[in-house]
Amino acid sequence: MSDTSYQERRGQIEHYFDRTAASAWAKLTSDAPVGRIRTTVRAGRDQMRATLLSWLPADLHGKRILDAGCGTGALAVEAARRGAEVVGIDLSPTLVDLARTRLPAELAHRIDLRSGDMLDASLGHFDHVVAMDSIIHYQTDDAVSALAQLAQRTSNTIVFTFAPRTPLLAAMISVGRLFPRGDRAPWLEPMAEVKIASLMAANPALAGWQCGRTQRVSSGFYKSQAMEWTRP
Ligand SMILES: C[S@@+](CC[C@H](N)C(=O)[O-])C[C@H]1O[C@@H](n2cnc3c(N)ncnc32)[C@H](O)[C@@H]1O
Repeated sequence: MSDTSYQERRGQIEHYFDRTAASAWAKLTSDAPVGRIRTTVRAGRDQMRATLLSWLPADLHGKRILDAGCGTGALAVEAARRGAEVVGIDLSPTLVDLARTRLPAELAHRIDLRSGDMLDASLGHFDHVVAMDSIIHYQTDDAVSALAQLAQRTSNTIVFTFAPRTPLLAAMISVGRLFPRGDRAPWLEPMAEVKIASLMAANPALAGWQCGRTQRVSSGFYKSQAMEWTRP
């Protein structure tokens, strides 16, 4: 991984989710009414969260899970409901504070929410790692390298999503790049499934890991693809 490109992008992402988009993100992840486009995004994200959770064992008692880039914590809560001990970490302290206010009291003891970098080794070892839409703004090499680092501290599965490389998305992004920098979200970095799978297969830190299920979710403007890696 290029430390420079990862750290540069990480700074932009933190600023975006902690400042620019924090209130929009708070609303999108709540039950408050949103416009037509965001309604489709919300539905797609609900479907994606359900897909990723369905790839974890039904009974998560005794399992330690990392919700990497937890945002407002919806996935962490669902995993804890199934018995997991969850660490949720996000770059944005604002979103983590919001996640804390949304924790159901009966699950709070099972969810440790922190602000910081998901790659922080001091978080310890996990049975399962979930990264829902958390690596979609990193370049493919940096995303793969991040997943490889997470794999070093994971016993069973890593499930994550990436922005699938489609002609429409590529066109939208190249048009988006014409707009002034300050108005935009950090780039989505669309990734080709074959490329991410082959880079992961070739990464020495992922020796012994296998690519499992993949599932694309497409709902209005929300297009994301889930991928599962397991250590058999
Ligand atoms: C699109 S949001 C998704 C949030 C949450 N996973 C969800 O699906 O609701 C991406 C989140 O990933 C977080 N993120 C990106 N890179 C991160 C990193 N290196 N460490 C921790 N969080 C990160 C961002 O701050 C942001 O909140």
